[in-house]
Amino acid sequence: MKITKICCIGAGYVGGPTMAVIAKKNPNIQVTIVDINQERIDAWNTEDLSKLPIYEPGLAEIVGETRNKNLFFSTDINKAIDESEMIFISVNTPTKTYGKGKGMAADLKYVELCARNIADVAKTDKIVVEKSTLPVRTAEAIKSILHNTGNNVKFSILSNPEFLAEGTAIKDLLAPDRVLIGGESKDAIEALANIYGSWVPQEQILRTNVWSSELSKLTANAFLAQRISSINAISELCEHTEANVNEVARAIGMDSRIGPKFLNASIGFGGSCFQKDILNLVYIARSYGLNEVADYWEQVIVLNDHQKRRFSDKLISTLYNTVSGKKIALLGWAFKKDTNDTRESAAIYVTDHLLSEQANIAVYDPKVPSSKVYDDLNYLQTRTEEENNSLVETFDNPYDAINDAHAIAIMTEWDEFKTYDWTKIFDIMKKPAFIFDGRNILNKEEMSQIGFEYSSIGK
Ligand code: UDX
Ligand code: UDX
Repeated sequence: MKITKICCIGAGYVGGPTMAVIAKKNPNIQVTIVDINQERIDAWNTEDLSKLPIYEPGLAEIVGETRNKNLFFSTDINKAIDESEMIFISVNTPTKTYGKGKGMAADLKYVELCARNIADVAKTDKIVVEKSTLPVRTAEAIKSILHNTGNNVKFSILSNPEFLAEGTAIKDLLAPDRVLIGGESKDAIEALANIYGSWVPQEQILRTNVWSSELSKLTANAFLAQRISSINAISELCEHTEANVNEVARAIGMDSRIGPKFLNASIGFGGSCFQKDILNLVYIARSYGLNEVADYWEQVIVLNDHQKRRFSDKLISTLYNTVSGKKIALLGWAFKKDTNDTRESAAIYVTDHLLSEQANIAVYDPKVPSSKVYDDLNYLQTRTEEENNSLVETFDNPYDAINDAHAIAIMTEWDEFKTYDWTKIFDIMKKPAFIFDGRNILNKEEMSQIGFEYSSIGK
C-alpha cells in the first residue's frame, strides 16, 4: 500500500510535532494538519516562526524547513480527509466533566465526531490511525461508526500511541525508544511501519493487536506517574527523618532493575496525560468490577494531590501561618521546563490554594503568556475573574515579579532560574527572604550563605 498523502486531525501538542517530523523524514509524502480552531491554524502558518502556537525546542526549525513544501496547515478538514490515504486522529480526549464517568472517564466526543466526519466524507479506502490516547477498546467504536456508513469504503483502523514527552518532543520523535502499531490489517500496519521506517529501525517498531496497543499507552503513563508518586511519598518521609531524597533516589537508581530516570521528587506531576490516563485506567478497571486494581492505581493520584497540597501548606505555615496580603512570587507556570503547556500544572493548584488564603501572587514564566495564567485560574471557578485579576499579576521579567516579595516558590525547573543573580534577588525581597524550591534546582548551601531561608522537597 503506497501512501502519498496523509492528514492529521488536531494541530495540538501531539499532532503538530509528530506530523512535522513525519513530513521532514518523508519528503515524498504530503502531510496536512487540520484543526477546527482557525486561530491555531493561523498561528501555525505565521511567517514569524517564533510565534508558532506550540513551543518545543527544535520544532520551529523543522516547520521552517517543511512548511508549504510537504507540510501544510489548514482548516479545510473535509478536503484533507478526501485526499488522504491515511488519517491520524489526534484530537483531545479530556476527562469528562459531565454525566456518567464525570471526573474519571475520557470524553470521546471529539474522537467520535472525527470518525463521523471521516465516514461522511471518504469516497476511497482509508487507513484511520488513533494517535490520541484512548481507552482500551475505543478502536471498536471507531470501526463500528466507520463501517456503518454504507458507502462501500474500506477502513482499516490502527492504534499508534504517541510516547513523546513535551519539552523533548522533537528529540523523542527523532529517536524513539519504540514505535507501537496495533491493528488487524497487516497491509495497513506495514504501510504505517514504512512511514516510520524512514528513520526508525524496523526492530524498534512493535506490531501488536489493537487492544494491547491501546492499553500499553495507558499502562506506560501509569507506570511513569507511579514512579513520581513513589519518590514523592518518600520525599515526605525524608523531611521527617533527615534523609535526603536526592541521595535516596541516587542510591536506588543505581540498581539496574530500578534505573536512575524519572526519580526527581517534585511539587507533583502535571501535564495533560498522567492524571487523565490514570483516571481513565481506574475507570475502566472499575467498570469491569476490578476494584482492587482500580484502588491501586487511584492512589497514584491521591498521593500527587497530597504533594501539591502539602507544598502550599508548608509555605503558609513557614510564613507564620498567614500569607494574607503577602506577595508570593511564583517562578514558572508551565507543568515542566521547555514547554508553554500549562495543563494540570501544579502551579495552578498551589496558586489557587494560596489565593484562598488571600495571598498576592506574582507570576513569571519564560514561555507562558499572561492570558494563560488567568485562563487556568478562571477555569477552576474558585473565585470570580475580577478577584483573580486583582490578586494575581504576571511579569515578563523575574526581578520585577520578585521585587518586595515575602517568598519565592519555584514551580517549574527552567534552566534560567539557576543562572539568576540570587544575591541581587535577596536584596530586593522582604526579610526574612524565603525560597520554596518545588523542583530542587538550587543549592541549599549557596542560598543559605546569601541569607535566604531555603527549603526544598524531601530534604
Ligand atoms: C491530545 C491529548 O491531550 C492526548 O492525550 C492525546 O493523546 C492526543 O490529543 P494534544 O495534542 O496535547 O493531545 O491536545 P491539544 O493540544 O488540545 O490538541 C488537540 C487539537 O484538536 C486542538 O487544536 C483542537 O482544536 C483540535 N480539535 C479538537 C479538532 O480539530 N477537532 C475536534 O473535533 C476537536
Ligand atoms: C508524559 C510521558 O512521559 C510521555 O511518554 C507521554 O507520551 C505523555 O505523558 P509529558 O507529560 O509531556 O509526557 O512529560 P513528562 O516528562 O512525563 O512529565 C510529566 C510530569 O511529571 C511533569 O510535571 C514533570 O515535571 C513531572 N516529573 C517528571 C517529576 O515530577 N519528576 C520526574 O522525575 C519526572
